[in-house]
Amino acid sequence: MKLFNFKTKYDADNSGHFGIYGGRYAPEMLIPALEQLEREYVAIKKDPAFEKEFFYYLKTYVGRPSPLYFAQNLTKKLGGAKIYMKNEGLNHTGAHKINHCLGQALLAKRMKKKRLIAETGAGQHGVAAATVAARFGFDCTVYMGEEDIKRQRPNVFWMQRLGAKVIPVMEGSRTLKDAVNAALKDWITNVKDSHYLLGSTLGPHPFPSLNRDFQQIVGYEVRNQLQELEGKLPDMLIACVSGGSNALGLFYRFLEDESVRMIGVEAGGEGVSKKGRHASRFAGGTLGVVQGYKTIFLQDKEGNIAQTHSISAGLDYPGIGPQFAYLKDVGRVEFSSATDKEALRAFNLTVKCEGILPALESSHAIAEVIKQAPKLSKDTIIVVNISGRADKDIFIVAEALGDKEWDKFIKEKSK
Ligand SMILES: Cc1ncc(COP(=O)(O)O)c(C=O)c1O
Repeated sequence: MKLFNFKTKYDADNSGHFGIYGGRYAPEMLIPALEQLEREYVAIKKDPAFEKEFFYYLKTYVGRPSPLYFAQNLTKKLGGAKIYMKNEGLNHTGAHKINHCLGQALLAKRMKKKRLIAETGAGQHGVAAATVAARFGFDCTVYMGEEDIKRQRPNVFWMQRLGAKVIPVMEGSRTLKDAVNAALKDWITNVKDSHYLLGSTLGPHPFPSLNRDFQQIVGYEVRNQLQELEGKLPDMLIACVSGGSNALGLFYRFLEDESVRMIGVEAGGEGVSKKGRHASRFAGGTLGVVQGYKTIFLQDKEGNIAQTHSISAGLDYPGIGPQFAYLKDVGRVEFSSATDKEALRAFNLTVKCEGILPALESSHAIAEVIKQAPKLSKDTIIVVNISGRADKDIFIVAEALGDKEWDKFIKEKSK
């Protein structure tokens, strides 16, 4: 087996804990479903037939391997390290989310579930979940905060066309964390025939490990592709981090290669000194147990989850995946943040320089590349994960750039 038998010293223990983080703090009614999921997860890790099926659909349906592209113009412009972009935006449905959606759909099929429940922020996970539901014949319900629906309307439209029921969540800040709560509630009620297709490396055990293992295909490919292109390992890996699925996907296969530096980039919003106006968990977050697992959350003294903000709907989740909280503690992964403005600047530069439209989430990672590359020598290699493409961000980018023609077009259309 090439993928699922891979392990590292940074993995969870048998109870799903990464150091003090992670675990399973779920309502009693969900425990049988989580135990069933864990049993199946353990079984597929030893099953070459499952891995073969996963690879088959990754190749023929998702379009993998995704390209590892040498960003020659950006490299020249920044004048330091050689920059490679792993372009997950070219996957079917436009982001890395399809990797774990495909894996979980195949798993749900084995568990004979009839229905998929999903939560979504940017809508990329929702679209990918609705896509695999259509392909493999599941009913599908997607929970999405009302605020995110406003920000990511095109993805709502496509989820509905794919046959999913999209339910607006009106509680709390009406964003991703509220959608996760609503999805968990649905799962408790319909646990027998439904699988909760959770969309990142977070939540109760085994979700953080399960989604990481489906996403490790990203780093697995990068390792082989870079070997072919450069004959060596990368010096630095950079990815944006919300729950952590795209970043762990890139980093996981390199965790035990001590020479490889890794930087996770959180959403700095309007600046990490502005409480409630960013989503950087390592700037003011504290230990808590929320949504079935233990990690660093942005919360007040009473444990109420704090308001967050980011220009990108996919990065404003208040908790960080438990494996990343652990990897930060043990010093294996470094963290930084990029503000909305820095992400927009990185977006514009990448579009103009490379002809690539990175999702606003991924633009946060590129903002870090812009800070790091000039400090590094020309023989060093940075690989940045372009976790998705920007089609979904058309309204936000047009507004942020103050595009008058677009504004006129929208007004005319709405008449
Ligand atoms: C394109 C894209 N990148 C990154 C993320 C952040 O999620 P994660 O940290 O799980 O990769 C999202 C979430 O919606 C996304 O849509």
